[in-house]
Amino acid sequence: MDKPKTSPKGFTNEDARRALVDGLNQDLANEYQAVIMYQTYAAMVKGPFRQELAAFFRAEIPDELGHAAYLADKIVAFGGTPTTRPSDVPMVQDPHGMLEEILKAERLAIQGYTERLQQAEKAGEIGPRVQLENQITDETNHLEEVQKMLAGWYEPAPGENRLPAGSARR
Ligand SMILES: [Fe+2]
Ligand SMILES: [Fe+2]
Repeated sequence: MDKPKTSPKGFTNEDARRALVDGLNQDLANEYQAVIMYQTYAAMVKGPFRQELAAFFRAEIPDELGHAAYLADKIVAFGGTPTTRPSDVPMVQDPHGMLEEILKAERLAIQGYTERLQQAEKAGEIGPRVQLENQITDETNHLEEVQKMLAGWYEPAPGENRLPAGSARR
């Protein structure tokens, strides 16, 4: 990759800048995934808790879109090109499986922003610190809500099928 003609302000180390931009692009792909995942699961979720879950999923979308907007802006400011490809969205049919996938995605987001904080510091760029910390707070709140929903979730006994037809787990 060519070096940018002018080094973006604040960077003291070119390798560290590139590592930060690559990491932010992975985070961006994951944020786009989160938007699509919440939208898709809100449409697909079935069962007695459909209305609550669909409303919860839809309510997360603005946060994730805001995160994506911030990341795309910073990637350009740091001399990169924002990805247009989301990470793959796991397709699951049942509400419990959806919440498990969301839990994984939120954990990954927290891990990503924690790494990005360290990479930004290494690159000599303290500008994104507070926003990355705020995004960790948002994702932690999402994670904790989903953990509470999953706590004590009723699991059918072996052989018992309480799920409506067509919504059984794969
Ligand atoms: Fe997010
Ligand atoms: Fe989130």
